[in-house]
Amino acid sequence: MKKLTAVVTGGTRGIGFAIAEALIKRGASVALTYKSNARAAQKAKVYLTGIAKADQSILLLKGDAGDAKSVAGHYRAVHEQLGPVNVLVNNAGIMPTRSFDEITIEDWSETIRINLSGAFYWSRQVVPDMKAMQFGCIVNIASIAARGGGVVGPHYAASKAGMVGMTRYAARELGPHGITVNAIAPAFIEDAGIFLDWPEDKKQTLKKKIVVPRLGNASDVARAFEYLIDSPFVTGVTLDVNGGAFMI
Ligand SMILES: NC(=O)c1ccc[n+]([C@@H]2O[C@H](COP(=O)([O-])OP(=O)(O)OC[C@H]3O[C@@H](n4cnc5c(N)ncnc54)[C@H](OP(=O)(O)O)[C@@H]3O)[C@@H](O)[C@H]2O)c1
Repeated sequence: MKKLTAVVTGGTRGIGFAIAEALIKRGASVALTYKSNARAAQKAKVYLTGIAKADQSILLLKGDAGDAKSVAGHYRAVHEQLGPVNVLVNNAGIMPTRSFDEITIEDWSETIRINLSGAFYWSRQVVPDMKAMQFGCIVNIASIAARGGGVVGPHYAASKAGMVGMTRYAARELGPHGITVNAIAPAFIEDAGIFLDWPEDKKQTLKKKIVVPRLGNASDVARAFEYLIDSPFVTGVTLDVNGGAFMI
């Protein structure tokens, strides 16, 4: 197995953090990006440093994944300090709930910019490294909203469906270079994002939307990620991690 050098956008909390932990446990050096929560970022770094071995590095990068200049600067820092990147997890995302009645042009643009354009900005930075190594793994964290529409709003569903489309295109173009590109479409992950603040009784309503007896955890998504990173013959797919929501 090659030495892994990974970027996880939004890697300091929730799903991204669980994926970063999985990467550290398999010997990778990892750069974690985040937007503004420095306390969560430091906590993540301290924990990951505690489980890393001496030859692994952890880099924290503060900035906006939806800003192409910031992403270019972050990529340069990763390249200088950790070396060429062969794993990219496009996970940073926002989920502002808005119906058609409520949504503003700014809400729309902001969500597409961060969730979808950010994934493109990072992908275009790391692909030359991956091509040079003839090895790479890109995983885009989409959502059940890319499959059935979801409940967050049109901006969010469009951003996540866009990620799935980009995943398929990139898989086709980059496959001949030994680069796999896949997506994961999670739902009902109770220890991440918006569900963290939900009271127990409200969470019970989510359980009615799935067939298994419990809600999902960030570690369930990390397990799907580990399957993809271990599967060089799997590319262009979107892996649903949603407790069987489609069976209801
Ligand atoms: N939770 C779910 O049930 C669920 C379901 C389906 C899909 N997803 C998707 O999974 C991904 C992660 O969600 P989560 O629930 O784990 O979120 P989360 O717990 O809210 O964590 C979000 C992470 O992304 C970072 N981030 C947010 N905006 C950013 C930006 N503009 N630039 C750089 N980093 C940014 C945050 O940094 P700060 O800490 O600085 O804010 C944080 O590290 C998202 O793409 C989300 O759409 C989640």
